[in-house]
Amino acid sequence: VTTRTPLIAGNWKMNLDHLQAVATVQKLHWTLKDAGHEGDSVEVAIFPPFTDIRSVQTLIDADKIPFALGAQDISAHDSGAYTGEVSGAFLAKLGVTYVIIGHSERREYHNETDEVVAAKVQAALRNGLVPVICVGETAEDLEKFGASAVPAGQLKAALAGVPASANIVVAYEPVWAIGSGQAATPQQAQDVCAALRGVIAESLDADAAARTRVLYGGSVKSTNIASFLREPDVDGALVGGASLVVDEFAAIVRFEK
Ligand code: G3P
Repeated sequence: VTTRTPLIAGNWKMNLDHLQAVATVQKLHWTLKDAGHEGDSVEVAIFPPFTDIRSVQTLIDADKIPFALGAQDISAHDSGAYTGEVSGAFLAKLGVTYVIIGHSERREYHNETDEVVAAKVQAALRNGLVPVICVGETAEDLEKFGASAVPAGQLKAALAGVPASANIVVAYEPVWAIGSGQAATPQQAQDVCAALRGVIAESLDADAAARTRVLYGGSVKSTNIASFLREPDVDGALVGGASLVVDEFAAIVRFEK
């Protein structure tokens, strides 16, 4: 069991328009309230598409909904001639706390290299945002190098130049487990999350390693979340598909019950 406050993060990916987003957040809030969920023991964060963020922020503020808001990407640049990009300053102004960086879908479909990921981590920190740094191995990597080597290398690269005092989150998402229905075992998740904590200790310092939350992501559901959070180095989950289904995501948030 983690000694850090667990973070349950819902990455909606390219799903739910701004009207659906507002309805979903309202329903999630009421579902958790009706279930008597007290917000203190678990932090909930949602990561809608950019076009939803303003509507969701307005709702969260108006109804005092205790969810943190995150974005799914950030520009490495702060302003200027970068058509289609969204800056960290814009996100911060909208009340965004977290930003996912280096998701495997961006590494794969948008050619995001370790260098791009590191530059985006710097952009997030420069703008007061907490980067959720995603790392993970493919099935091929797993066979060739074992589970930890590739994610550890990706994390080391992402942490280049990051000060030890920085507020970051790390998410271990094995590519073979994403959207496949085949989650890692709790032991696999624990082993890699512990190795990633070791990378944080080396790249930043022991205090940063003790304080930083390392999440597991990849086919997390209400039926397996508790088994991951029983592990000492797994501090929460980055949830994709199951975060789109309100009752399912609420059950994940209420994993202790
Ligand atoms: O970022 C979360 C994600 O990649 C995991 O997706 O659908 O397997 O929960 P999913």
